[in-house]
Amino acid sequence: MKKTICVLAISFALGASGCYYDVEEELYPEIECDTQNATFSGAVQPVLSQNCLVCHSAAVNTAGITLEGYNNLKVHVDSGRFLGAIKHQAGFSPMPQGGPQLPECDILKIEQWISDGAPNN
Ligand code: HEC
Repeated sequence: MKKTICVLAISFALGASGCYYDVEEELYPEIECDTQNATFSGAVQPVLSQNCLVCHSAAVNTAGITLEGYNNLKVHVDSGRFLGAIKHQAGFSPMPQGGPQLPECDILKIEQWISDGAPNN
């Protein structure tokens, strides 16, 4: 009985460290950054879902800011508050609040999307 528990514990530990490794790869992406074809659905929305919507979904609406859905986000893109916040520029509240700045490549893709006119693509 004791043996079984021990084996289970070891395989759980190995499994857990495997998961941790996967996460680390996401945290430290490769340095190359392909900003071509940076679309709303492909490059912007997933970043918001992972890093922002916990506070800025339509339901939570922290600080009166909803970033869920293209039309809601576009308001803050057009005002310049969105880019200022994620780039941690002076005069803006640095976002995501309480977390590290977004990976540089994510910011570069978002900037590319905005300079393409922030289309709903
Ligand atoms: C933990 C909750 C939380 C998360 C996560 C979060 N925000 Fe915020 N956000 C806030 C709060 C609170 C404020 C109001 C802060 C203030 O006015 O100083 C705010 C304000 C803002 C503003 C207005 C900033 C300004 O200076 O006008 C923008 C834009 C914004 N958030 C975008 C984002 C984006 C984009 C993300 C994800 C990258 C994000 N937030 C993640 C809580 C959060």
